[in-house]
Amino acid sequence: MHDALRINRQRLINRLERLGEIGALPGGGCCRLALTEEDRQGRELVIGWMHELGLQVSSDAMGNVFGLRPGTEDGPPVMTGSHIDTVRTGGIYDGNLGVLGGLEVIETLNEAGIVTRRPLCVAFFTNEEGARFAPDMMGSLVYVGGMSLEDARATQGIDDQSVGDCLDAIGAGGEAPVGKPDVHAFVEVHIEQGPVLEESGITIGAVEKVQGISWQEFSFTGISNHAGTTPMRLRHDAGHAAMATGAFVRDLVNRIGGDQVGTVGAFDIKPNLVNVVANHARFTVDLRNTDNSRLKQAEQELQAFVERLAEREGIEVEHRTLARFDPVPFDPGMVDRVEAAAQALGHSVMRMPSGAGHDAQMLARVCPTSMIFVPSVDGVSHNINEFTAPEDLEAGTNVLLRVLLDLAE
Ligand code: GLV
Ligand code: MN
Ligand code: MN
Repeated sequence: MHDALRINRQRLINRLERLGEIGALPGGGCCRLALTEEDRQGRELVIGWMHELGLQVSSDAMGNVFGLRPGTEDGPPVMTGSHIDTVRTGGIYDGNLGVLGGLEVIETLNEAGIVTRRPLCVAFFTNEEGARFAPDMMGSLVYVGGMSLEDARATQGIDDQSVGDCLDAIGAGGEAPVGKPDVHAFVEVHIEQGPVLEESGITIGAVEKVQGISWQEFSFTGISNHAGTTPMRLRHDAGHAAMATGAFVRDLVNRIGGDQVGTVGAFDIKPNLVNVVANHARFTVDLRNTDNSRLKQAEQELQAFVERLAEREGIEVEHRTLARFDPVPFDPGMVDRVEAAAQALGHSVMRMPSGAGHDAQMLARVCPTSMIFVPSVDGVSHNINEFTAPEDLEAGTNVLLRVLLDLAE
């Protein structure tokens, strides 16, 4: 093993900052929603870096991109990577660290003249965030065979454009067969996006599992009427019903307790005027729990509440499930490897679940998988103030280097 080998912190940060300039927002952070012009520019930049590092670059019809570094033997590569799309109000680390950390490992190996036994592969997957097109982790889900390419392409986004049209418009789809290459093992470095590591004073999270995710969308249709003249008993108020459901979500989550979380993140009301009873409301509910039975309970109670409310208020309800993923346990041997690598490098380490969704949870369907978390300052993410200290970025990427060498030798 190459125990003394270390990544170059400044080179990693330079790439993170350079990629963060694409879609940069006033005040910091960035907006690179999946399959937009900004995403295209981000892809071009990262693919250019892959070529500079000597990787064999390919992309599949879903726009997933793979940079392969041959080993001394053929066979399935050890893969790392993540995503470069962001939410509309994102930071420069979420996902990007996993891709650029992978490239930094490759450059470190190139400099040291090390060729591993197994091939290595740095990948980035299309539309991990799901903020524009649901579900999240769409590219990696298609890659592992959990969604057909046709269904993915047909998905309509928040702006009523389809994944297929947007893939074609930015030229992101390539010739590589979907679901190739086969993968020996997958490990992803990512910022924690929550407060646990920072509050515990610990540098590295060895991620044992990802919590279950349920995204529901409701559309309520009532009747618009005059806000001053319509007696309360005659109202069919879609706005009231939507807001009552939002309040119910918070009560429900508090009552279930434990790891249960719930969010009404998107909300649209019509006609959105001060003196008109709303005839239409559309909103999303994001429910998550590490315990699938409690997550199911939350989903059922939400449905029952909406049905009772619709009856009482006299409104029509349309409902769609935008995403539904069970909790995902990672491979215990892979978690051990992450923990051992962190310890060998002298970093404090704890085992923990992931609150966010990740491409790794899809790769776990096809190969041994785990993740490496590094602290997020104040636990802030999906926010332009997202920040991880340079020494923590460096620590996580050195753990990645060590785990990849361990797996590839
Ligand atoms: C996606 O990354 C999510 O966890 O919302
Ligand atoms: Mn992410
Ligand atoms: Mn994210």
